[in-house]
Amino acid sequence: MAADNIISLKENIDLERLPQHIAIIMDGNGRWAKSKGKPRVFGHQSGVTSVREAAESAAELGVSYLTLYAFSTENWKRPLFEVNALMRLLLQTIKDEVVTLNKNNIRLNAIGDLNSLPKLNREHLQKAIEETKNNDRMTLTLALSYSSRWEIVQAAKKLAELVKAGECEPENVDQQYFESLLTTTGMPDPELLIRTSGESRVSNFMLWQIAYAELFFSQKFWPEFRKEDLYEAVLDYQCRERRFGKTSEQITKKK
Ligand code: FPP
Repeated sequence: MAADNIISLKENIDLERLPQHIAIIMDGNGRWAKSKGKPRVFGHQSGVTSVREAAESAAELGVSYLTLYAFSTENWKRPLFEVNALMRLLLQTIKDEVVTLNKNNIRLNAIGDLNSLPKLNREHLQKAIEETKNNDRMTLTLALSYSSRWEIVQAAKKLAELVKAGECEPENVDQQYFESLLTTTGMPDPELLIRTSGESRVSNFMLWQIAYAELFFSQKFWPEFRKEDLYEAVLDYQCRERRFGKTSEQITKKK
């Protein structure tokens, strides 16, 4: 896309009505690589550029939270060679990007079953989280070894333990309390969920949190995703009427 087209997409965004939290299911690395006659891992490597583009464009717009589905619980079932390559790539990217995250005032965060990650990944991830913890322009969350059903079950387990220990009464459990046991506690729910690669499903990602999110399905494979694709998704989001179960008249009257 020509540079002036990108600028005009960006200029059309209403900065007063930005989604506070954007979540992205990065999909299509393997198919993109295959279409180029390259191994799947080449697709993952190329996807790192798109991660940068997404983070930069979201931060430049003023989005407060960006959450990326980088590795699902189910991804462990992939061939060992690919899992190892993804873990190495993740480790390298985390190590390489801390300086840039700090330069751009971006805080790194991670959700998921982090104990299942290789020790070195866990250590460098914790180090990067610690080194960026005071940044407050945007929180970039990586969902790693994450799945929503895993998250909900671990929240239910915590709740059962709290009740068993007499620290919580079942009648005091409401949505807000349950949310405090999820890995995303303290974050607003994503208002916009983007999935790339033309697939129209949510694949066990933030099922609780996306209850009212607007969904945007991009035809691009993840390695092709650039700033203008994020702008396009935000512009599309801004054209939607978010009713939260109310009528259109109730919503427009409030404006
Ligand atoms: C989905 O494509 C992508 C992944 C499982 C991994 C995403 C990882 C990256 C973009 C690389 C590094 C990320 C970070 C955060 C440093 P796929 O393999 O499922 O593609 P396919 O559906 O075409 O097979």
